Amino acid sequence: MKPDILLLEPMMPAIETALDSAYRVHRWTGGTPSEGGAIRGIVTGGGTGVPRTLMDALPSLEMIAINGIGTDAVDLVEAQRRHIAVTVTRDVLTDDVADLAMALILASMRDLLPGDRLVRDGLWGKQALPLARKVSGARLGIVGMGQVGQAIGRRAQAFAIPVSYYSRRDLDLPFTPFVSDLVRLAEQSDVLVVAASGGVQSRHLVSREVIDAVGPKGLLVNVARGSVVDEAALVQALQEGRLGRAALDVFTDEPHVPEALWSMPNVVLQPHRASATIETRQAMGQLVLDNVAAHFAGKPLLTPVIL
Ligand code: 8YV
Repeated sequence: MKPDILLLEPMMPAIETALDSAYRVHRWTGGTPSEGGAIRGIVTGGGTGVPRTLMDALPSLEMIAINGIGTDAVDLVEAQRRHIAVTVTRDVLTDDVADLAMALILASMRDLLPGDRLVRDGLWGKQALPLARKVSGARLGIVGMGQVGQAIGRRAQAFAIPVSYYSRRDLDLPFTPFVSDLVRLAEQSDVLVVAASGGVQSRHLVSREVIDAVGPKGLLVNVARGSVVDEAALVQALQEGRLGRAALDVFTDEPHVPEALWSMPNVVLQPHRASATIETRQAMGQLVLDNVAAHFAGKPLLTPVIL
């Protein structure tokens, strides 16, 4: 008999077809599913994770396959206690997230959206745009120097952008100074990019003080998790001109984005799309399929989360 799986958010059609052919897939519509007792596996996204109440309502749950790298929305301690295996799609989305970070830096500093708007509104030649900011040579501070942070650093090199970083520890990276104090890193950066994992340990790491240190000429970019930045403080700093620009792919309470940000010309907004390319979602989906198949075949998991 095919194992019962609960799918918490949509995936690429080809991946869902492959899931449907190997498992009895139940599509989550919120709350506790009536077939809860039969569910042995969950497939979910990094942002969605698994609500703890849902986890508690599935007594036969054996594995959670996350279609992403973030584990902050899954109670890993409870999973370990119940011997529920958890997998992520490590490595395959690093490039995309770093690419989006660069795209956000370029879009923000070069005022791509106001420029695009001006052309579409037929105002070219009629209205002048303020001069933009130079990207090459701007000083970049990276918060969280894991795989994504390091991939952003490599891209920055091609733009002659000097990189410093703040992380849990000094990684001894060549030509990339570690700064142990986040406020100091923010002070000495033109652009601060958040690439740290979400979760209680990093909640509001980018505080009002850090935002003020980025300053009225600076840019704050977030491609990690909304929870890492104090969003209320960020909105207030932008409103009061204490922060120059922000470019955000992630938010505290997705898909809710503070309305105050919608009309700000110095803010670039994305709907949590850093890994949303055909190539990467295909690779992520395949890794989810391979991990779930390995689990139900009693084979070693490809990319397990180890506490
Ligand atoms: C995805 C993510 O958008 O990797 C993560 O943790 O949040 C993103 O890559 C998400 O997992 C798909 O829902």
